[in-house]
Amino acid sequence: MRNVWNFSTAGKIIFGNDAVQGLGKLMQSLSEKTALVVTDPGIKAAGILETALSSLKQEGVSYAVYDQCEPEPRVEKAVEAYDFAKNQNCGAIIGLGGGSSIDLAKAVAVLLTYGGSPKDYFGEFKVPGPVLPLVAIPTTSGTGTEVTPAAVLTDLQANLKIGISDNYIRPMIALVDPMLTVKMPPAVTASTGIDALTHAIEAYTAIGFEYLLAEGEALYQGTNDLTDALAEKAIKLVSDNLRLAVDQGQNVKARYNMALGSVLAGMAFSNAGVGAAHAIAYPVGAATHAPHGVLCGLLLPHVMEYNVPVALDRFVKVAELMGENVRGLNQFEAAMLSVKAVKRLIRDVKITATLRGLGVNEAQLPDMAEKTLEVGRLLRNNPRRLTAADIEGILRNAY
Ligand SMILES: NC(=O)c1ccc[n+]([C@@H]2O[C@H](COP(=O)([O-])OP(=O)(O)OC[C@H]3O[C@@H](n4cnc5c(N)ncnc54)[C@H](O)[C@@H]3O)[C@@H](O)[C@H]2O)c1
Ligand SMILES: [Fe+2]
Repeated sequence: MRNVWNFSTAGKIIFGNDAVQGLGKLMQSLSEKTALVVTDPGIKAAGILETALSSLKQEGVSYAVYDQCEPEPRVEKAVEAYDFAKNQNCGAIIGLGGGSSIDLAKAVAVLLTYGGSPKDYFGEFKVPGPVLPLVAIPTTSGTGTEVTPAAVLTDLQANLKIGISDNYIRPMIALVDPMLTVKMPPAVTASTGIDALTHAIEAYTAIGFEYLLAEGEALYQGTNDLTDALAEKAIKLVSDNLRLAVDQGQNVKARYNMALGSVLAGMAFSNAGVGAAHAIAYPVGAATHAPHGVLCGLLLPHVMEYNVPVALDRFVKVAELMGENVRGLNQFEAAMLSVKAVKRLIRDVKITATLRGLGVNEAQLPDMAEKTLEVGRLLRNNPRRLTAADIEGILRNAY
């Protein structure tokens, strides 16, 4: 049994409407050298890159821009971005965008600091030490990567999403400006918001830190009182605000609350860990290239249903946080209302994917289940153990 937990997050979190206007001053205080901005064409087209660059210009901060990130970036993109960055003499990295751009920025920060190739750092605790100063500016309210120790890439050869996971790549600064999310299209708002909900629920219903089956240091450690407080607040913020944010993109209050919910969920899951929904999303994501949040929405209710029997009290609380009336019900019935509430939210924001609809062949399911077992660092956080047959059962329910 483990008896100690620890908690890490970004070095500093700066949060609020128009916070990005302070980027230039912030960079000036960090480094006199050139900043590398890592972003993607969608962020450029939305005018967000220009907003960030004008703040840098105003303060005379020199910069180079890599704007060719792609959604769910392949390992090759990290190599390409690194090749670009090597010639720019950059002293700090700014990740501007959704999880894809920020994760690519994290990978580039590692490569610029220590050289080599991305695969040298895949896994946990492979980064040798601190990386160049990293500022993460999220434009989606979903991944929480601005505070997490993970950079996720797509490995087409292994047919798996793969990651660099190390506290050294938690951003030095998370600069969170909800105003950057107001132009996010409804479908992206929906899928990224469901990602945040999945982080919060999987963190809240993870195994207790005492019972994590791991020796020595672990990044994802199971629940503790601090992650519980963060996750509870995040579940409530997302379930109260996601519908509005999807339906009324310009609703600044809903956007603000979603941005906050996403950061809190990121703080929670990047210490407590995520579980089987995220683990199963790894092989399914590599095979389908579907957005990560869509897969979360597809898998979360089925994983919750599987987990309910071993964490009844936790799921009752999730149901309550999502506004369900649990009075007069026995514990199991009350816990199952959390699954119903999540299904309703997913339906309301129009995430309707099935594995079949994403082009998965039924014959692929056993192999996906086997591949999921390789994501042991996430599965061990799940409150209930899973065999390949259990995972296949969940996949069949999501088919
Ligand atoms: N590192 C972590 O801790 C962590 C956690 C969860 C997910 N992830 C990873 O993050 C990636 C997904 O990131 P994401 O869900 O944030 O989406 P994304 O970064 O892939 O962005 C999706 C699309 O939305 C566009 N977009 C983003 N913000 C916009 C805005 N404000 N206005 C207009 N368009 C906008 C982008 O240009 C892009 O085309 C996946 O690779 C996933 O595996 C990482
Ligand atoms: Fe996620």
